[in-house]
Amino acid sequence: MKDPAVQIEQLSEELRHHEHQYYVLDAPEITDGEYDALLRRLQSLEAQHPELLTPDSPTQRVGGKPREGFVKVQHSSPLLSLDNALNEAELRDFDRRVHDLLGGAEYRYVTELKLDGLSMAAHYRDGKFTQAITRGDGTVGEDVTENARTIRSLPLRLKSPFPSLEVRGETVMSRRAFERLNAERDEKGLSRFANPRNAAAGSLRLLEPRLTAERRLEYYTYFLLTEGRPAFDSHWRSLEELRHLGFKVNPHNKVCRTIDEVFDLCNTWEAKREELPYEIDGVVVKIDSVEQQRQLGFTAKAPRWAIAYKYPARQATTTVEAIEVQVGRTGALTPVARLKPVEVGGVTVSRATLHNEDEIDRLGLQIGDEVVVERSGDVIPKVVRVSAQGSPRTPFRLPSICPVCKGKVVREAGESARRCINANCPARLKESLLHFASRGVMNIDGMGEALVDQLVDRDIVRNVADLYDLTLDNLLSLERMGVKSAGNVIRNIDRSRANPLPRVITSLGIRFVGERTAIFLAEAFGSMDAIARASLEDLQLAEEVGPKVAEAVVQFFSEPTNLELAARLYKAGLQFTYVSTRPSGGPLRGKTLVITGTLPTLSREEARQLIELAGGKVSGAVSKKTSFVVAGEDAGSKLAKARELGIPTLTEDELRALLTPA
Ligand code: IVH
Repeated sequence: MKDPAVQIEQLSEELRHHEHQYYVLDAPEITDGEYDALLRRLQSLEAQHPELLTPDSPTQRVGGKPREGFVKVQHSSPLLSLDNALNEAELRDFDRRVHDLLGGAEYRYVTELKLDGLSMAAHYRDGKFTQAITRGDGTVGEDVTENARTIRSLPLRLKSPFPSLEVRGETVMSRRAFERLNAERDEKGLSRFANPRNAAAGSLRLLEPRLTAERRLEYYTYFLLTEGRPAFDSHWRSLEELRHLGFKVNPHNKVCRTIDEVFDLCNTWEAKREELPYEIDGVVVKIDSVEQQRQLGFTAKAPRWAIAYKYPARQATTTVEAIEVQVGRTGALTPVARLKPVEVGGVTVSRATLHNEDEIDRLGLQIGDEVVVERSGDVIPKVVRVSAQGSPRTPFRLPSICPVCKGKVVREAGESARRCINANCPARLKESLLHFASRGVMNIDGMGEALVDQLVDRDIVRNVADLYDLTLDNLLSLERMGVKSAGNVIRNIDRSRANPLPRVITSLGIRFVGERTAIFLAEAFGSMDAIARASLEDLQLAEEVGPKVAEAVVQFFSEPTNLELAARLYKAGLQFTYVSTRPSGGPLRGKTLVITGTLPTLSREEARQLIELAGGKVSGAVSKKTSFVVAGEDAGSKLAKARELGIPTLTEDELRALLTPA
């Protein structure tokens, strides 16, 4: 067998390559599953040889120990801000000043999209990532090294080992990651982030790096420094070098020779900004030559050799004509402001979400008020603040009966939403159907709002299982439904039967159970039956399943109507058992182990990973179902319980012996 150090280095190198392909170049060469398999092999090797684990290993992206706070650190040179040009005239003024100050010499510009995130400096020594510092006040920032390590597009090791360098760039959250995060927060009853920028800022400053890792931040670089100064005499050259070193550099950066060209480019991107996967608020224009930058120098707060051409905020002022109430899938009542139509950044807006009652209170909003609305990361516009009280103005309260089914509405303790509790409420049913059919769930193309409305209003569909009984005739009886599209819908419904178990679990719309949790439940229990029968305790043995999720699952399956629904979906041919993508087989397959006390060399987490890699499960509590208890020093009550129940115990060495197949 090969030297483990060599094996670890080769695997790390391979993983670094694929990480770069995927997160920096957006050009993956292998599937996620293949990548995970490589990563697990490395994790397992490192667990067996903890002395070979280094902080720049690709396994260290998951986030280490929680911290108490952040240490303040001084920057090598200040992170300045930029002067703004708010229109064409101001941009041309900037160019004129540059022209005059350079005494008629030739110059060229580098233009970069102005990503709306937060700037951060990252330091490298001998080609290895050592420290990341937020902008802070520009002179002193906060050390966020452990959180930055989880950003996949920030290389932990460079492609060439510069003795010492610093990069500066923007930490951003993509619109997609932002929307996913807010959707998760809605599900959990947590407050939403207002925009991707705030979400990125909040994520970078979490005290638990493990949570930052889940936020999928990205890092785009725009400065390469050595000893606080530009590393090359051309800015463009620095950008190229950054790319070679393995950093993510915005592919839309461009050299422009005239201010006309710059202005054209600003306009082009203003029209196309919605197509970008992240938010931008302008274009940064920089003089390319570092010598000319030096000649131009700085004002008190900003360089004279650069400017930010800023796009107008996508905000507008209008009047709230009414507040309507929507009923969601979980029965949550959402207030929505109906607005006097107004144009915001090229789109006419006539509605804006108000999220919940607390939000209305926070805004101090009443019907008739004049408000500022904004379109940002969210597709749905939102009310930012009340700009003038209306006269007359009418206070708004959410109704105490459901506006759709007239059923009872309750607000549970600790919740910001009121809910309609009628499971058969048509509004809830419509939302459930849309959720069921959505992408990422059962993925039934053609099952949109117009179709769902008719199916429910005409009493053709009373629950999601009814979809599988739909006939071509049913659909042809509806308005605006031709033979071709009806046929497509029926075919798409039929195909949806092949979706794997995690999607079927997600489709049920159990509270707090999204795609990710569904995968963990499927992994842990293997079948819908097992999940439905699991106790609160059992459920919490699954990864990332806490008391709240467990409670929601138990509650869901204790409702006879839900059990009936599940039974019908099963009969319809949906996938109720799981074919895991994790390694099957393995010497500990089907075994449940409990770890207790301090093991001589392995941490709990390492031991857990090894056991899982060998196909076993790790549980927190000893019961009759436990196969082995792995006991270390100072093992307490769990060991006693194991002895009482006659469950075999293992030392770390004995565990290792079991892990290696004979
Ligand atoms: S250069 C000395 N380049 O915009 C120049 N900034 O308004 C300092 N930003 O704090 C900044 N993209 O957070 C620069 N390509 C880019 C940028 C960029 C976004 C942000 C950055 C900075 C702010 C300045």
